[in-house]
Amino acid sequence: MQMTSVMGKSRIILTMSARFINEAISFLVFCFLDLVDFLLCFLFKSVDMLFDSEFRPCYCSSSAKEAITSGGKILVSEQGGESKIVSLSSTKLMLEDISDTLYSRPSLVSEVSRLTMNELKRLKLEDPILAQSKRGNSRCSSFTVNTTIVEMLQGKIGKHDVHNQIPRWSDCDCKECCSWIQPSSKTTLYVKSQFPTSVDLLGFGKSPKPSESLYTLREHLDMIEKSVLEAHKVESFHIVAHSLGSILALALAAKYPQYVKSITLLAPPYYPVPKGEAQATQYVMRQIAPRRVWPPMAFGASLVCWYEHITRMICFLICKNHRLWIFLTRLITRNRVRTFLLEGFFSHTHNAAWHTLHNIICGTAAKLGTYLETVNENRNCKVTIFHGKNDEVIPIECSYDVVKMIPSAELRVIDDKDHITIVVGRQKDFARELEEIWNSTNKS
Ligand SMILES: *[C@@H]1O[C@H](CO)[C@@H](O)[C@H](O)[C@H]1NC(C)=O
Ligand SMILES: *[C@@H]1O[C@H](CO)[C@@H](O)[C@H](O)[C@H]1NC(C)=O
Repeated sequence: MQMTSVMGKSRIILTMSARFINEAISFLVFCFLDLVDFLLCFLFKSVDMLFDSEFRPCYCSSSAKEAITSGGKILVSEQGGESKIVSLSSTKLMLEDISDTLYSRPSLVSEVSRLTMNELKRLKLEDPILAQSKRGNSRCSSFTVNTTIVEMLQGKIGKHDVHNQIPRWSDCDCKECCSWIQPSSKTTLYVKSQFPTSVDLLGFGKSPKPSESLYTLREHLDMIEKSVLEAHKVESFHIVAHSLGSILALALAAKYPQYVKSITLLAPPYYPVPKGEAQATQYVMRQIAPRRVWPPMAFGASLVCWYEHITRMICFLICKNHRLWIFLTRLITRNRVRTFLLEGFFSHTHNAAWHTLHNIICGTAAKLGTYLETVNENRNCKVTIFHGKNDEVIPIECSYDVVKMIPSAELRVIDDKDHITIVVGRQKDFARELEEIWNSTNKS
């Protein structure tokens, strides 16, 4: 008896000290990374000036307003979680959401750098009235539009021709990555329409990667509608989506309840926001990126979510040189490993990945529940979820929470599979499982 209680106690002490060590090391490592990101910010600005003779304001040193409006968009409000940007097509004026996690990621260094920048700006502006009025402007949270104003805005925003874009120096300029820039190419997603249809997302693979896009949910959906639903006159479909794609799938299913016959989600990143949590976007970011060094997946996710410039450096080293990495992989593995995964992972711009991550995963935090409710009400749509038991990127609790929202959904937990091996390595099995799911919806 005494023996076990002593062991129990020492185990508690061990766990507690392990947690403490993790916290302490995490604090130090992330302070260091904050600093690295801050320094990289200056490095990138200088090199941007050198190669592109201009730099795009970033989210850390500029205000959110500058970073967003530099791409020709108009920011309507920048209060926590409710930021909207105005975007304009030739006929429509739209308000769309962007995630405040893009520009508000509280950390020691970001605060210091923001204060320094504000101080510098204040010194430069000097005129306190001007500074005051500028600050006042950025707070405006509502506006009314009439046709005259829409025309004025149109003049201000201008028409961006996607074909006139040259890649940034830090992005890849190979033929595959830039195929969408050719004047002859259409500005739609890369669709592989061999059955089943698959689509490269906006900003990824062989799809367009516009550099001024903010990769919002609406932009992604618009492109899918334009490239798949409208282009192929699809009026009935099954959706299969993995990870981040699950959010787009649910948004699409909620928008087209009459068309969607089934949804199959693999490892959906659904983090229900507790009632009373004022900032849904920030809550979700804390869940996926907790600023901890252990476990390694949490570290990786934190690195990717938190650091605008470190991720640009990673993209520069990996994505810009994807052909080299793929060549080396083939050489080292003597062609025994198929490289389609690498090709899929490495072909994107930093701008696309950074905005998609924040605007889709964090930015939809408050909306995902509504999409799930809409899908749940649609009795004609069969929902199946696959989740690898060993998935460390998206915990299995996410899928349990989806099932709470859609009780009729079927959850299949697959033993010994993680975020990638849930499909990769079991493609044949998965194809058969999909066929069964689709066959069963045809019968009913
Ligand atoms: C639209 O705005 C312009 C400029 O403020 C104003 O002159 C015009 O009367 C407005 N039109 C309508 C229909 O409200
Ligand atoms: C699905 O249906 C097709 C056509 O009816 C059939 O050929 C196929 O074997 C079925 N697949 C499965 C996995 O049940």
